[in-house]
Amino acid sequence: MQPTPRFPWKSEYTVGNESIDEQHRTLLELAGLLHMAVAAGQGYKIIQNAFAALVKYTEEHFSAEEQFWISAKSSILDQHKRLHRDITQELLALRFEGPYGVVFCTPNELTNWVEHRLIAHFIEEDQRVYRSLTQGARKKRTTA
Ligand SMILES: [Fe+2]
Ligand SMILES: [Fe+2]
Repeated sequence: MQPTPRFPWKSEYTVGNESIDEQHRTLLELAGLLHMAVAAGQGYKIIQNAFAALVKYTEEHFSAEEQFWISAKSSILDQHKRLHRDITQELLALRFEGPYGVVFCTPNELTNWVEHRLIAHFIEEDQRVYRSLTQGARKKRTTA
């Protein structure tokens, strides 16, 4: 039996573009795998791999989404790029290299980032930008 995902997809997260929504789903899945690894107190390698996968996909998604906003001629790209950068920095800060080695975030810290930064960004910024586009610009697909 599949375990219940830690960050299940909800219809209210939907931005409306198929590719962006697929990528957002993948982000939540990867964040869920990392959560499972830290909550279970897995070893360094497993947590590090899950963390690296989430960072890599977050960067790929943000860059694909920025390309999409450019091709759709969105007027608020610079501000949106800044938000992407801030959210990425906050994710990177969940892994800390201290004098005694690498320390990863607690499950709660990760949940905070996912709910208050990542999901909040889908709902507040991505949806808003998408809805401000013209009908023609909305249909294009993007790749990550
Ligand atoms: Fe996004
Ligand atoms: Fe975004």
